[in-house]
Amino acid sequence: MKRRSYAGSDYRKALNIHDLERIAQRRLPNFVFEYLQGGADDERTLARNRNVFADYLFEPRTLTRVGPRDLTSTLLGKQYAMPLAIGPTGYNGMLTADGDIKLAKAARDAGIPFVLSNVSTTSLEDIAAIEGLTAWMQIYFYRDRDYVRKLVERCRTADYEAIVVTTDSAIYGNREWDVRNFRKPMQPTLRNLLHLLTRPRWMADVLIPDGMPTFKNLGDLLPPDKQGVQGASAIIGQQLDPTLNWDDIAWLRDLWPHKLIVKGILSPAEAEQAAAIGADAVVLSNHGGRQLDHACSPFEVLPEARQRVGNRCQLFIDSGFRRGTDVVKALALGADAVWLGRTTLYGLAAGGQEGAAHALGILQGEIDRTIGLLGVDRITDLEASMLRRAVRC
Ligand SMILES: Cc1cc2nc3c(=O)[nH]c(=O)nc-3n(C[C@H](O)[C@H](O)[C@H](O)COP(=O)(O)O)c2cc1C
Repeated sequence: MKRRSYAGSDYRKALNIHDLERIAQRRLPNFVFEYLQGGADDERTLARNRNVFADYLFEPRTLTRVGPRDLTSTLLGKQYAMPLAIGPTGYNGMLTADGDIKLAKAARDAGIPFVLSNVSTTSLEDIAAIEGLTAWMQIYFYRDRDYVRKLVERCRTADYEAIVVTTDSAIYGNREWDVRNFRKPMQPTLRNLLHLLTRPRWMADVLIPDGMPTFKNLGDLLPPDKQGVQGASAIIGQQLDPTLNWDDIAWLRDLWPHKLIVKGILSPAEAEQAAAIGADAVVLSNHGGRQLDHACSPFEVLPEARQRVGNRCQLFIDSGFRRGTDVVKALALGADAVWLGRTTLYGLAAGGQEGAAHALGILQGEIDRTIGLLGVDRITDLEASMLRRAVRC
C-alpha cells in the first residue's frame, strides 16, 4: 500500500517506526544502514517477518466500558511498564557514539528491560552501572568454553539479573550486503567511502572522536594483536561453535543459578525442551531474518509453542515487530512480551537516546490505543478469541 511518509530528518516529527527507519537511512552511511537493515540470502524470511501479521485480523468488542489502559506486565517475576524489552544487538556504537548506553537509558526511562549483546561496544560492567536499569546479558557459545565461563562469572559479579543464550547463530548467516560493502572485513569499498562524505554528522558523532568502535566484552577471547574490529570479526567467526547442543544449555543452567533465557528457538518442541531443562523464558526468534533464510516467522509458531510450554516458562518473541498492532496480536496469541531489534535501533540512529525513547513512545501509544479499540483495558485481558485467521481474497 502506498502511503505518504515523513520526508524530513527530525525524529520528533516521526509518527511511526517507518518514519524513523527513513530518517535513520538519511543519517547513516550506506554500509552502516545496510548492516542494520539487511537479512540473509534472498531476504525471504526478512520480508515474511513483516507480512505474517496480516494472517490474523482483530475481532474487537465495542461495548465493554473501556477504562484507562494499564500496560504493566510481569516479566521474570518483576513488574515493568509495558510488555516490551530492548533485545540484544551488536555493534550499536556504530549507529551513534555510546549507542548501548543511550539505548539502555531509553529502556530504563520507559520502564522496560535492556538486553546487552555479547558483541557490544560497551562493557557489561558499564551497562550494569546505569542506575535504575534492569539489564540482562546475552551470550554466544564459543569453542573456548573457558571464555564463556569467565563471561558468566563477570555477569555474576556485575549483578546481572538474567543471561540470554542465543542458539540460532552457531553458524554465521550469509549476509551478502556485508560482503559487497567491504573490500576486506571492516574496510568499506571506495563507493561506500565516497558515500560517507555525504554523512558529516555521523562522522562527527562516531568516526572522528574515537574511530570505529571496538568490542568491549571479548577481551579474554581475543589475542592482544586482534583486539581491533577487523581482527575480532575474524576470530568471532572462527570461535562460534556449531556443536552447540542441549548439554551446553544444561551446563550453563548449572553454572548460572539465576534467570536463564534461551533465544533463537523456532521449533515448539525445542521450546518445550528448554522449559523442561529449567529455562525461565524462551525467545521465539529468527534473528530478524539474518540467519537461516526461508525460516518461518516466530509469530507463526507462537500458538503451538505456548500450548507446548504451558505455564512452565515465559514466552518472549521478536522479529519484524514495528507496530503496536503487531505486538498486541502476539500478546493475544500467548506471548508474555515482545523484544525489539531494529525498531529501537531506527530511533537510536535517527535521534540518539531521545530517538530511541521516541520509538518506545510511539509503540506504547499504539499498544494503548489498540487494546482500547479491542475492548479491554489490561494486557492480561487479551486473548486469542479476539483474533481471527484472515481469509485470503
Ligand atoms: C543490527 C543487528 C544486530 C544484532 N545483533 C545481535 C546479537 O549480537 N545477539 C543476538 O542474540 N541477536 C542479535 N540480533 C538479533 C536481534 O536480537 C533480534 O532477534 C532481531 O533484531 C529481531 O528482529 P527485528 O529487528 O526485525 O525486530 C541483531 C539484530 C540486528 C538487526
